Amino acid sequence: MRAKIVAGNWKMNKTLEEANTLTSEISGMVADEVRGDVKVVLCAPFPYLLPVKKLIGDQTRIVVGAQNCSEHEAGAYTGEVSAPMLASMHIPYVILGHSERRQYFGEGGALLAKKVDVALKHNLTPIYCCGEPLEVRERNEHEALVKKQVEESLFHLDAETIKKIVIAYEPVWAIGTGKTASAQQAQDMHAVIRKHLAGKYGQAIADSISILYGGSVNAANAKELFACADVDGGLVGGVSLKSREFVEVIKSI
Ligand code: 13P
Repeated sequence: MRAKIVAGNWKMNKTLEEANTLTSEISGMVADEVRGDVKVVLCAPFPYLLPVKKLIGDQTRIVVGAQNCSEHEAGAYTGEVSAPMLASMHIPYVILGHSERRQYFGEGGALLAKKVDVALKHNLTPIYCCGEPLEVRERNEHEALVKKQVEESLFHLDAETIKKIVIAYEPVWAIGTGKTASAQQAQDMHAVIRKHLAGKYGQAIADSISILYGGSVNAANAKELFACADVDGGLVGGVSLKSREFVEVIKSI
């Protein structure tokens, strides 16, 4: 059985006070309303990781994640945050390769492979993002691009290690646009990713890896997306900033 995961990516949003309120609301509702086998990950901005973690307390169904980490372990890299720092704060998850990092910060496959390695070395679970821009889908090259993104940053891992990865498929044209992929488009790409993993690592390992869908997930479309055979949860942006709707998304799994 693959882990069912719904992660909220807060991106660069909220003041500390707002982050605290959001966390308390989500935490209370998850405790009352969400089944026990769903893992909720709150990917907060770096300065809020510890306050959010503290507010969650011993609620085991919710954990905290970071949105990025450096490829370096320590040193003169002003403004960066390292995997050992996150590990020292007992942060279990880190998003890597988000399309906004690829687009605005020039992150590419080789760099992301290093970030994946340093995160794993410090026992963080990477949520590795892949996904195609609109023009690539229009050229019908989306499957080839996503397979390449998975290959170039993950396929150096051995079979035992790849099991520790969570993958998120986020078509760039669906992020923050209100234009979600159809359930069929999501399922098709998730199946392509899983088949690619199976080709390299075998079916049993491919079947054990959670693949999340991200891109304009909301309370109205989550049920259909999460019902797809190869969709194991979601990576949610805008809606993760609204406690009630986010919890409705979580309950759709
Ligand atoms: P939206 O849910 O706002 O489209 O963002 C998706 C995303 O980028 C999550 O990482």
